[in-house]
Amino acid sequence: RLPASGTTVPFVPSEPLVRSTGSGEVAFPPGFLWGTATAAFQIEGAAAEGGRQDSIWDAFARVPGAVKNGDDGSVACDHYHRYADDVALMADLNLGAYRFSTSWARVRPGGGAPNPEGVDFYSRLVDELLGRGIVPWLTLYHWDLPQALEEKGGWRNRDTAYRFVDYAMTMHEALGDRVRVWTTLNEPWCSSFLSYTGGEHAPGGHSRTDGVHAGHHLLLAHGLATQALREADPEAALGITLNFTVADPVDPQDPADVEAARREDAIFNRFFLDPIFAGAYAPDVVELLEPYGLGDVVQDGDLEVISTPLDALGVNYYNGAALSGHPAPSDDAATGPSGATPPRPEGEHWTQAPTPVPEGVHHRSRGLPRTAMGWEVQPEGLTRLLLRLQQDYTGPRGVALYVTENGAAYDDEPDETGFVDDQDRLAFIDLHLRAVKDAVDAGADVRGYFAWSLMDNFEWAHGYDKRFGIVRVDYETLERTVKASGRWYGQVAATGVVPA
Ligand code: NOJ
Repeated sequence: RLPASGTTVPFVPSEPLVRSTGSGEVAFPPGFLWGTATAAFQIEGAAAEGGRQDSIWDAFARVPGAVKNGDDGSVACDHYHRYADDVALMADLNLGAYRFSTSWARVRPGGGAPNPEGVDFYSRLVDELLGRGIVPWLTLYHWDLPQALEEKGGWRNRDTAYRFVDYAMTMHEALGDRVRVWTTLNEPWCSSFLSYTGGEHAPGGHSRTDGVHAGHHLLLAHGLATQALREADPEAALGITLNFTVADPVDPQDPADVEAARREDAIFNRFFLDPIFAGAYAPDVVELLEPYGLGDVVQDGDLEVISTPLDALGVNYYNGAALSGHPAPSDDAATGPSGATPPRPEGEHWTQAPTPVPEGVHHRSRGLPRTAMGWEVQPEGLTRLLLRLQQDYTGPRGVALYVTENGAAYDDEPDETGFVDDQDRLAFIDLHLRAVKDAVDAGADVRGYFAWSLMDNFEWAHGYDKRFGIVRVDYETLERTVKASGRWYGQVAATGVVPA
C-alpha cells in the first residue's frame, strides 16, 4: 500500500547505541519520501468563513493568558485563501508529499452535519497537490475539536469517539478517490494529557483523571475510524502519528532515576503504543493510571478495536529527556519532551496545572544546545527511537515508519528582503536526517521524512512568537520567503542526498 523504501538490511539490535551521526554525504534509498507538514488551525485562518464554526482552539485563544500575546487563529497564514500559491511553493521546493490536516470544525461545524463548502476547500487543495505531483498525506485530527462537542464533554465523553468516525467518513467519501494515505490522529498525548491535565493546550483542563479518560477515548476514536476506513477502502494506507520522547535515566545505576525514566516512557510513549500495536495497556501503565480512573473507561472490546492493524506509524520527534527520581531545586522543565514547554511567568493560568506525568519524574538538563523552545538538540535519540519502534512494535507487524514531524524553532532575523539565513535550523535538520539514515542503515523501515514546518505558523500556546518554518511568513503582509533551510531542504528533496 505504501511506497517501498528499498530497505533490505535486517535489524540488528546494538546496545548501547553510540552517536554515529557524522559529516560526509549521505544518500537515502530510492523512493524515500520528502515532505513538509502543517496543521489546519496553525495555517488556515478564515476562522469564520465558509461555514466554519469555533473549535476548542478558537475558544481557548479567547481565554486571557492562554496564548502568548493574545494571538489567535483568525488569520494565521491565510492559507485558506493562498493554498494554491502555497502548493506552488512546495513544488518549487521539489517536495514529494505534503502532510496537512483537515478541520473538523470546518467540515462538520458544531460537530453536526457536513458542510459542503468546508469539504470543498480540501477537495480543491488535494486537486492542486495532485496536479503538482505531490502526495496528499491527510491527518484527520490535529487538535481542533469543534467547540460544540467540547461543551458535551469533549474527549472526556466516549461519544466523541463515535462522532469522530462520522467526520472521518465524511472526509473519506469526499476525498477517498484521491487521498490514499490517511492518518487518524496527530499526537494524542498532546490532545489528552497536555490539554486536559497540563492545561497548556485547549481546552485547558487541570485534571489527571480527565487526561487519562481523554487519552483512552482518543485511542478508541483512532481504532473505530481505522476500522471504518479499512472497511470502506481496503486498499488505503492507514496510520497514526504519535509524539515520542526518548526517556533516559540521568544515572543508569540509580534505581530512582531508572524508575523515573520508566514512568516517563510509560505515559508518554507506551500508553499509546501498547494498545495500538499489542492490544493491551502494559501492566505498569495500568498500575500508574489506575488511581486516575483508567479502568473506569475501558470497555470490553475497546482494545481489540484500538489494535486494528495499521500500515504506517508516523513518528514526531523533537527531543529526548534525561530523568531523575530526585527533585532538585533547579528542576529544569525546559528539557521536557515535545509539548512540555518551559514554565511561563507567574500568573498565567496554566502554571497551576498538575504535571501531565505521574509524580516522581524530574527533568534534568544535559547541557546540550537548545532551540528557541528550550528543547535540547539530541539527534541520536531519533536513531534509538526508530530502532526501538522497529524492533518492538512496527517491524514484527510489517508496519512502515515515517518521520512525520521534526524541526526547530529559532529566533530568526530576516534581512531587508525578508530572507532568513537560518544556519541553525538547517544544521538541526541536517543532523536529524543523518540520524534517520543511521536508523535505516541499522534496519529500521523508515520510508519518509516531513520537516516541521513548511512555513512559520501559529505555535499553539506560543502564538506566532515561535517560528518553525523553512519558509518565513511576514505576519504583516503574509508574504512567504524561502529561508536558507528551505533552499537546502529543497535540494535534499530533489536529490535524496544530504550533502557533506
Ligand atoms: C507537534 C505538533 O504536531 C505541531 O502542531 C507543533 O507545531 C510542533 N510539534 C512544534 O511544537
